[in-house]
Amino acid sequence: MSETARRPTSPRPADVTVTACPDGPLLVRGPARILGPDGEPVPRRRPTVALCRCGGTAIAPWCDGTHKVNGYRSPETLAADDG
Ligand code: FES
Repeated sequence: MSETARRPTSPRPADVTVTACPDGPLLVRGPARILGPDGEPVPRRRPTVALCRCGGTAIAPWCDGTHKVNGYRSPETLAADDG
């Protein structure tokens, strides 16, 4: 099997959106492949997933709602507060 034949088809960029939730996770909608620190795909079971950006989750890379109790403030919220 050639290298090209083993490589999964890449989703079209228009099929994937990433939305930064204020003081919360990044919502990834669409067929994006999420890769772990080892470069291997992280299995996902839903068409929309939430990636933690507060660092407090117990189920990385997914958001487990800890941002609601650890006081996380997202950069865009902090910037708006400064402006
Ligand atoms: S963003 Fe939700 S637990 Fe980190």
